[in-house]
Amino acid sequence: MKNPSYTLTVELDSRSYEIIIGSGVLSKIGELLKTRFTGQRVAIITNETVAPLYLEQTSASLTQSGFQVVPLVLPDGEIHKTWTTVQRIFDHLIENRLERTDGLLALGGGVIGDMTGFAAATYLRGVPFAQIPTTLLAQVDASVGGKTGINHPLGKNLIGSFYQPCLVLMDVETLKTLPQRERLAGLAEIIKYGIIRNAKLFKMLENFLNDILELNPGRTAKVLLICCTIKAEIVTADEREQGVRALLNLGHTFGHAIESLTGYDTWLHGEAVAAGMVLAAELAANLKLCDREDTIRIRTLIQRAGLPVTIPQFPASAYLEAMTHDKKVADGKIRFVLPIRIGKAMIQNDVPKSILTKTLEEGMNPLHNPYLPPQDTP
Ligand code: NAD
Ligand code: GLY
Repeated sequence: MKNPSYTLTVELDSRSYEIIIGSGVLSKIGELLKTRFTGQRVAIITNETVAPLYLEQTSASLTQSGFQVVPLVLPDGEIHKTWTTVQRIFDHLIENRLERTDGLLALGGGVIGDMTGFAAATYLRGVPFAQIPTTLLAQVDASVGGKTGINHPLGKNLIGSFYQPCLVLMDVETLKTLPQRERLAGLAEIIKYGIIRNAKLFKMLENFLNDILELNPGRTAKVLLICCTIKAEIVTADEREQGVRALLNLGHTFGHAIESLTGYDTWLHGEAVAAGMVLAAELAANLKLCDREDTIRIRTLIQRAGLPVTIPQFPASAYLEAMTHDKKVADGKIRFVLPIRIGKAMIQNDVPKSILTKTLEEGMNPLHNPYLPPQDTP
């Protein structure tokens, strides 16, 4: 089969749902939602970049299946992932008199998905919602698992809820319009799955990086399947992040600090996660928890992908302060996800401040290369 499609299930008892991955599947959305939304109206929530590309096709499919479509086109960007924008979604739903059985459909990247999910979780105390993720990052990560929310000026994703969609439909064709920088940001999350859970995936990325960067449809759908399978297994085991789900935050403690310090408008989330994963690997090596050989492979793959490996220049104390606002802080201690080898990671709560500061300072220095052999002195 040239362009296969795949269906997998996130098993969560009565809240279980399917993820459908394929090429050219977007036009099936109406038919798929007929059995999942019982109401007549669907509010498609999208943004000004995605709307001209995919809103018409999505609306047409829903209309053909008998739905009444009420689209809302929001401004684009992480800086709009705020309470003010969610308020606009509520205004739209109330003005259009959406009822409890009517549904919300997120059409866009992780920003749209997170905000739409949050609005769905809270409007009328919860209405059904589905996701059509259109970025690589949202397809491999953000659209699956029910984390929804918005940013607060003091930290990323601090306001939100766990609320599962009833369907996730991902069409690899939509990735063709995605700017290269956004593709790379998604690749960072794919590399993350390899590091925390699947050494074979990591090896596949080392061997076929170009196929994935060029969005070879067969290879891309396969990679989406592997990543979504890992995510679905983890979410089934630990929906509310009491344990294993925290591993999905590899690179995110440093990454969220980068995003927060740079005001959410300079670094993409995936870029921040990429540099954060390199730093997490360096921290693991400095703590003697991970072999240098593995941290070199992590840094090399991220660098080969064209993703950042150096964090931006801020005082280490500013990073420490930003990290204490992270959701993952427990009992005042910053929790780090650290790789211990390719394919396996662990949570570490007690990292000595001196080692953390040293790792941050080295991570900011573009000239610092921990892998050069010591120089012979003449
Ligand atoms: P994004 O939603 O900002 O999308 C990136 C850019 O691509 C935007 O400009 C968007 O308009 C544009 N775009 C989207 N689809 C396109 C397409 N097909 N063609 C052309 N342009 C397109 O960013 P993202 O990387 O998708 O998601 C990042 C967000 O996801 C962050 O807010 C992050 O916190 C969140 N996130 C959530 C989870 C979760 O589990 N809920 C996981 C990871 C990330
Ligand atoms: N993106 C991390 C999670 O879904 O848990």
